[in-house]
Amino acid sequence: MQGQEISTREAWGSKVAFIFAATGSAIGLGNIWRFPTVVSQNGGAVFVLVYVLAVAFIGFTVMLAELTIGRHTQRNPVGAFESIKPRTPWKFIGYLGMITGVCILSFYAVVAGWAAGYIFKMASGALKGKLTAEMSNKIFTEFSSDPIQVFLFFGLIMGLTIFIVSKGVKKGIERWTKVLMPVLFLLIVFLAIRALTLPGAGKGIAFYLRPDFSKLNGTVILYALGQAFFSLSLGMGTMITYGSYISKKDNLVSSAGWVTFSDTFIALLAGLIIFPTLAFSGQPGNVGDETLAFKIFPLIFPEIPGGQIFGIFFFTLLTVAAITSTISLLEVPVAYFVDERNWSRKKAALVIGLFTFVLGVPAALSTGGMQFFTKIKVLGLFAFIFGNISLAVGALFICIFVGYIWGIKKALKEISSGNPRFKLRPIWVFSLKFLSPIAILIILYFIKTLKG
Ligand code: TRP
Repeated sequence: MQGQEISTREAWGSKVAFIFAATGSAIGLGNIWRFPTVVSQNGGAVFVLVYVLAVAFIGFTVMLAELTIGRHTQRNPVGAFESIKPRTPWKFIGYLGMITGVCILSFYAVVAGWAAGYIFKMASGALKGKLTAEMSNKIFTEFSSDPIQVFLFFGLIMGLTIFIVSKGVKKGIERWTKVLMPVLFLLIVFLAIRALTLPGAGKGIAFYLRPDFSKLNGTVILYALGQAFFSLSLGMGTMITYGSYISKKDNLVSSAGWVTFSDTFIALLAGLIIFPTLAFSGQPGNVGDETLAFKIFPLIFPEIPGGQIFGIFFFTLLTVAAITSTISLLEVPVAYFVDERNWSRKKAALVIGLFTFVLGVPAALSTGGMQFFTKIKVLGLFAFIFGNISLAVGALFICIFVGYIWGIKKALKEISSGNPRFKLRPIWVFSLKFLSPIAILIILYFIKTLKG
């Protein structure tokens, strides 16, 4: 019975297809919207430094661990833990991941909706001509506090996500990501070059790249680690699920490395656009909230000949990058209901998608739409609890599971399929068993020191 299920399960068309889909999941609003926000809130360059270290030493470790569990079990996260350690509480890590994913999706799709809305803002010419920071702020505030516009685009994003996920792995996810991700990459490089040559850019670059170590503290490290997990789509089973569709012939280590590298590269480039532009607009080192990127990006387009077209293009690609992430968030619970509960893909995508939409209502109303939700900053709160703490907890248990419960030997055996010579092996094993879990534990301890 089980064997039959596995043989009819979908798989990626090729290694490249997997890399595009996983990179598509990783690269999204986390890089372009959230990364600059947390950098600005956490002291600039020193945060960037801690972030890069967290990605290299912990993010990559967890990424490979998740892909290994996924490919070995060929299951969704709940089924994966259950098939390795049946009838133990380990499956609850899978459930935690599913809940976390749905909660992340509920606010993520709201922000993706802002990006979609900005395609039309750019097209309408509202963001053309000499644009001051005040004007740009006002345009965003008016947009984000209008429930009709916010819900329209939030609903649009959820609808598209449900549609693509219900089509399945190959026809849905694969087809989209292959074409559009490279275009996004080129546009971001172009915008970074423009931003770096804006007058006053130097101040922004200094904030972004010259570390001030007096700003280093527990909060910085906590946010850097959380952001690393968020940006790499780790800690909730996305990479277990995506790994479950990888062929036994493919090299898991280079796949993990490639996804980790390109995701980080894009985030760093996004910072090279935001901070010089911020300085150019006369507010270097400004501490922004979740709305920062949307207020700053529009400022660069009037500085480019034909900028309006670039702006339309940019927000279109940002929306696409966000959708390749939203589908990966929805795919996790959908894979569970399809694998374990025998639901049809369509039904699972529709039911969970609609549920997520309802769950997202408070976040959608938290940027001015409704006073109560705006005051308690629901979106930021969700981003912190689910997009930071839950992911760190999930990642901690994944390390413990692979390092001690399932066992390093079995994991290494799975990795050796497609990669007989795993050169980074001693480092990975050390990080998985000791460095990562201990670091995550210590960092979680810093939650206590957070204000409020
Ligand atoms: N990594 C995506 C981004 O940076 C968001 C995302 C997709 C995600 N799947 C995830 C975050 C799973 C955490 C867990 O935009």
